[in-house]
Amino acid sequence: MTFPKGFLWGGATAANQFEGGYDKGGRGLAVPDLKTAGSVDTPRRFTAKIEPDVYYPSHRAIDFYHHYKEDIKLFGEMNFNVFRMSIAWSRIFPQGDELEPNEAGLQFYEDVIDELIKNGMTPLITLSHFELPMGIVEKYNGFSDRRVIDLFVRYAETVMTRFKSKVTYWLTFNEMNFGAMDHGELTVLGLNPNDQTGIKGNEKVRFQALHNALVASAKVVKLGHEINPDFMIGCMICHITSYPLTPKPEDVLKRKEFDLLFTKFVGDVQVRGVYPSYMTSYLEKKDMFPIFESGDAEILKAGTVDMYTFSYYMTICITTDEAAKDTAGNLMGGKANPYLKASEWGWQVDPIGLEYTLLDLQDRYNLPMMVVENGLGFSDELTADFTVEDDYRIDYMRDHIKAMDAAIEKGVDLIGYTMWGPIDLISAGTGEMKKRYGFIYVDMNNDGTGSLKRSKKKSFDWYGRVVESNGEQL
Ligand code: BG6
Repeated sequence: MTFPKGFLWGGATAANQFEGGYDKGGRGLAVPDLKTAGSVDTPRRFTAKIEPDVYYPSHRAIDFYHHYKEDIKLFGEMNFNVFRMSIAWSRIFPQGDELEPNEAGLQFYEDVIDELIKNGMTPLITLSHFELPMGIVEKYNGFSDRRVIDLFVRYAETVMTRFKSKVTYWLTFNEMNFGAMDHGELTVLGLNPNDQTGIKGNEKVRFQALHNALVASAKVVKLGHEINPDFMIGCMICHITSYPLTPKPEDVLKRKEFDLLFTKFVGDVQVRGVYPSYMTSYLEKKDMFPIFESGDAEILKAGTVDMYTFSYYMTICITTDEAAKDTAGNLMGGKANPYLKASEWGWQVDPIGLEYTLLDLQDRYNLPMMVVENGLGFSDELTADFTVEDDYRIDYMRDHIKAMDAAIEKGVDLIGYTMWGPIDLISAGTGEMKKRYGFIYVDMNNDGTGSLKRSKKKSFDWYGRVVESNGEQL
């Protein structure tokens, strides 16, 4: 195995999917607090207000808020040396636009960060993981309002300054490229779905809001480097790796366009500091090129990222043949690949695709990289002696770790791997609990009932050995 010494091994989470304590310590409401549970067949609902007798999974989630010491100890037992988590902006600035931060929120994260460090982990913090404060949504329509740029910068400056000697690795926005899609309008950009002024589904507004968020991200990267020049700050892209379904030139071209317009565009701006020409011409043709205020171009240039990070779960095929078979996927599906099997949730499992992706990204950017999400969601069954025989998860992860190893051997500068959901948590897509990714089983049902007891699955010891041996013992 070729994993470099000091390779970062760990797990990844997001506050709204595992923290709970949604109204504790002065925290304000965030977007996920108004999202109901759902399933593959029943999409989650976003309600304008908290409705009585409705279950909102983020409110208690798996209650890391009250279990963090126990949970971090378990991550330490698996020898994690990195842990990815997000800070909920609304715990620090409850409405998003206060002048002074909420000390209770800062103290909570300081306690968590101290506990991580005590247990041998370096924190990797996402500043915005699909959980914008509702104040930002309702008062400003999210990033469509330029004032939100400075509100985000104020929030980032507050946490980066407070934790500057304890946290080195930062990500600005989770899966920011999703902001270019209609269903990322609320999640990434905070555009209010209940707004009556016609912004919903308005692509021009969406690309302006995405531009404003890119400016905010770049400002934060620049500022972060001033706060601590050692900070490593990354973009985080939902990398939907795709293949042409056939070698037909029309399929190859269509796939290329998808890859550029959806998968590569945002990362290109964050890495290179300019809009790529393919995007400029696409947006201009549709009369949607965003307004650049004076100084924006310079900010984008000055705030380029130090590392490229991405999520990778599955791949899709692209074709001009509308009748080809569909497949599901992370945030979006595509056409099915006849050579791949799909998971229980219909996501096509493709470890070789990860090696391909790493080579592609190394070639494109030549930056240090981290795979900050990867894993298998499965409806695990707890046995009578409180474990889960999750060999399927071990197989999935072993194959993906081998793919990373092969890519490193081919010269890829991969510095870390945080698999998704080391402890079972709420699914972002469906709001379900039964879609479990963890090495640690949490006794909780889809409706939120359950004791929350934590139990180690078979994969727990397996991953502990993988990390301890720096990828040698798979
Ligand atoms: C990514 C998100 O899109 O995929 C995570 O960053 C999410 O928040 C993960 O949980 C897996 O998706 P899901 O729908 O299975 O939770």
